[in-house]
Amino acid sequence: MDSSEQDNINMIEWFRASTSYINSHRAKVFVVLLSGEALIDKNFANVVYDLTLLHSLGVKLVLVHGARPQISAALESSGKESNYHKNIRITEAECIDTVMRVVGGESARLEALFSMGISNSPMQDSDVRLCRGNFVTAKPVGIHDGIDYQYTGKVRKIQAKAIRQQLDQNNIVLLSNLGYSLTGEVFNLSAEEVATEAAIELQAEKLILMVPRAGVLDDDGNLVASLSEEDAKFYAEKLSKQDEESRCIGRALDACMRAYANRVHRSHLISFKENGALIRELFTRQGNGSLISSDSFDNLRTASINDVAAILKLIKPLEENGSLIERSRELLETEIDNFKVVELEDSIIACAALYPIGPDFGEIACIAIHGDFQKRGYGDRLLASLEAQAKADNIKTLFVLTTIASHWFLDKGFQEAQLSDLPNQRQQLYNFQRKSKVLLKKL
Ligand SMILES: CC(C)(COP(=O)(O)OP(=O)(O)OC[C@H]1O[C@@H](n2cnc3c(N)ncnc32)[C@H](O)[C@@H]1OP(=O)(O)O)[C@@H](O)C(=O)NCCC(=O)NCCS
Repeated sequence: MDSSEQDNINMIEWFRASTSYINSHRAKVFVVLLSGEALIDKNFANVVYDLTLLHSLGVKLVLVHGARPQISAALESSGKESNYHKNIRITEAECIDTVMRVVGGESARLEALFSMGISNSPMQDSDVRLCRGNFVTAKPVGIHDGIDYQYTGKVRKIQAKAIRQQLDQNNIVLLSNLGYSLTGEVFNLSAEEVATEAAIELQAEKLILMVPRAGVLDDDGNLVASLSEEDAKFYAEKLSKQDEESRCIGRALDACMRAYANRVHRSHLISFKENGALIRELFTRQGNGSLISSDSFDNLRTASINDVAAILKLIKPLEENGSLIERSRELLETEIDNFKVVELEDSIIACAALYPIGPDFGEIACIAIHGDFQKRGYGDRLLASLEAQAKADNIKTLFVLTTIASHWFLDKGFQEAQLSDLPNQRQQLYNFQRKSKVLLKKL
């Protein structure tokens, strides 16, 4: 097979593999921050192509653009100085007209880019409608340390209902770093803040921050693909003391943490400089950016004796309603090494166990996710982790006995089997009163 044929096969395989991502992203709200730096980058046309693709796949997009370098350049060329206090620009009364002109110009430029439809380009037949409006209500930052920030503002309210109406009509909503006050004035806001508050108010599926680097890099320059809350805090603090590009990543991390604290569970930092980074992060397993998510804020680990009380508490209601067989504290203490748990903010919210039976079999047991955290993929992750451990332990076949979750296991690749398919020692312990189904999975 020559290399072009191999490329074709790779492309087809990648496209097929993207089906699950396409399905899971469809009809979800993504809020995307396009900083002023992103708008002037030479790769920006590709970012527009990729956003158009997301829109075509049914993602509901809210774009928020900034114009920081453009405003600085315009103020400088008109002989006005940009004054800052605590890293925040003071927008003086004589500057707000320039800010409006520059930001309005950038919004119009974006509208033009999304209107392209040249044949043989990714925009052909795309027919995208961008919609702008007074969706952001602002208030003045006010006076701090005796410094009046004048026309520098903060978000007071995001008109989420009006934005949703536009998204429901298949429009892309375009917000900027301008907000409008109840007194009829225009305020200069931080685009990061607008994007974060919009994501929170809309309870967006994702907040995506397009940044000048691949994401967060460690000391050796390697990409940190997934960050816990602690990691995010650590890097935000560290980067805030470095050069402007690093500070930009630091601000993005602050935005992610605020979004996370307000139930936006997935934020991505993705490079606006790299062709296709957005597509790779959203449509491939390996990704191509830094993800700050609830998945990385929790801790899936092997249980210890200190977890026994919390596991007993978690499984008690399920034992009482007959979903799980009863386990005494003593039994759990002796078997605790077989358990894995998910810990979230110092609470055990999920557990599951793997018992090796003979040389070839492993039994999955006692899988339980706290009611408040079901349907968020914890069961899936615990099972995947136990399967990985089983493979590492050379277990050939996994089985489970279940009364109410057989379909969940069937979805995970288990198949219905007979009691006689189990190892003898387990057959003898089968409780005929429970009438559990037997499910097997070959590893
Ligand atoms: C069954 C259980 C482990 C699944 O864990 P989870 O973290 O909620 O599941 P995931 O997030 O990985 O998957 C969610 C999907 O599984 C489905 N699902 C959950 N329980 C199911 C069940 N009993 N039968 C069929 N599907 C089920 C959900 O509807 C959801 O499907 P959707 O995405 O199409 O809406 C969890 O619901 C649980 O603890 N149940 C009570 C205890 C129990 O029955 N344990 C099994 C003993 S063997």
